Amino acid sequence: MAQSQIKFYYKNAAAETIGAEHGITQSRLEKLLSELKEGIRRLRSNSELKEKEDAYRRLPYESRTVEKVNDLVAEFSSDCDCLVILGIGGSALGNIALQTALNPYLYNLDGHQRKGPRLFVFDNVDPVQFGSFLDYISDKLDRTVFNVISKSGRTAETASQFLSIRKLLVDKLGEDALKKHIVATTDSKTGTLRKIADDSGLQGLDVPAALGGRFSVLSAVGLFSAAMCGIDIDSLLAGARDMDDRVSGEDFAKNPAAVNAAINYYFYKQGKRISVMMPYNSALYSLADWYRQIWAESLGKSKDLSKAEVHIGPTPVRALGATDQHSQVQLYREGPNDKLFTFLEVEDFGRCVETGPSPQNAKELDFLAGKDMGMLLNSEKKATEYALLSDNRPCLSVIFPQVNAYTVGQFIYMYEATTTFTGALFRINPFDQPAVELGKEAAFALMGKVGFCEYVGLSYADFAKEIKSKTNIDAAYLL
Ligand code: PA5
Repeated sequence: MAQSQIKFYYKNAAAETIGAEHGITQSRLEKLLSELKEGIRRLRSNSELKEKEDAYRRLPYESRTVEKVNDLVAEFSSDCDCLVILGIGGSALGNIALQTALNPYLYNLDGHQRKGPRLFVFDNVDPVQFGSFLDYISDKLDRTVFNVISKSGRTAETASQFLSIRKLLVDKLGEDALKKHIVATTDSKTGTLRKIADDSGLQGLDVPAALGGRFSVLSAVGLFSAAMCGIDIDSLLAGARDMDDRVSGEDFAKNPAAVNAAINYYFYKQGKRISVMMPYNSALYSLADWYRQIWAESLGKSKDLSKAEVHIGPTPVRALGATDQHSQVQLYREGPNDKLFTFLEVEDFGRCVETGPSPQNAKELDFLAGKDMGMLLNSEKKATEYALLSDNRPCLSVIFPQVNAYTVGQFIYMYEATTTFTGALFRINPFDQPAVELGKEAAFALMGKVGFCEYVGLSYADFAKEIKSKTNIDAAYLL
């Protein structure tokens, strides 16, 4: 049976709707789509970039990963009340997005709404937050599974969480418990976490060597926690395959990732350098967070492929409809016309919540009485879109017929491809993140790492001194 497809709608970014000064004309779009063909050819002619692109594009077809994930789920789920993800960035945002989109809002609180263990995702090293969690979990360890996820296996935040949990497990349950309570998801061959996992005989899931963290949600990184929590990962991947067909189409006018990339590139070049993603559905809010990372880390680059200095990159912002109408829309309408809006709209929420009748003394509320809350939410989306259009602000929409694993799989894949295509238009490498490295190494130095830091060409001790000379508080400037 044919399943429903998400749709990409762009008329409200077009010149015919908001005028030629702020909208894109059909001829400009067509020109950019043919430039994009050339851009993609250029990107794929670079063997390293091609390998990185292929790595995420292969994921929806990797049945062996699904089998391995399902085997581990079968092994762990019967003795698991709490599943805890330790990871950060691309090793956590996709997990959160899948859980938020596809499981009930009160999943963790209400056993009747839950099809798997409670899920906790820790993507920070906040001692107050993590400490509170340790207080909660310490007497539940015998029915808790920790999935530590780190592609590189050397990320300080994840390592810090992992070492705390490892000690807790050893202290409370003994060394042997590690095998029963930890699943390590990391590079199949290299890295510190791989070494620890192999030496301690931990259960493991592999992250393909060429796969970038922010493109990894459809690998074991995202699939294990999703499957443990009852999400239909077969449908998720089937949705991604469906989108793979659509974004592989040579007719770019019908290819949603190509049109989305061309429009985003165009508006950036026109000075609209902020991309607001605004779901009108709370379940999709974390997907906007996931988008924020893939967009920012992939497209924010100082150099293009020929090593020329460019300093480009749209700034992604997430907003939530209708909530942020009461927080952001004043700025969005009357502030600078420097933003492109992408709404996420849901046609069928799968749930009706009917508003009660209005009391005798409040007849002015009659227009709401007996109406479905989803109708109000979707009317708010149209209302905000209309208000923005009346100030010539370009608006795109991604329309979900329903939110389910199949449509979420499509959305993820569409945005992975859109990001790649936009990178091709910008002529940059969308798969690296060189600017993140300096901060990572600096944190190692400040934490007392011993040895030589190749990245800055100093010993970690000297590097720490250099950092402190710039960041220690100078009382002369402290008010
Ligand atoms: O997209 C990326 O590569 C990053 O956001 C990583 O996912 C993040 O830094 C975590 O890295 P790792 O999985 O190696 O711990």
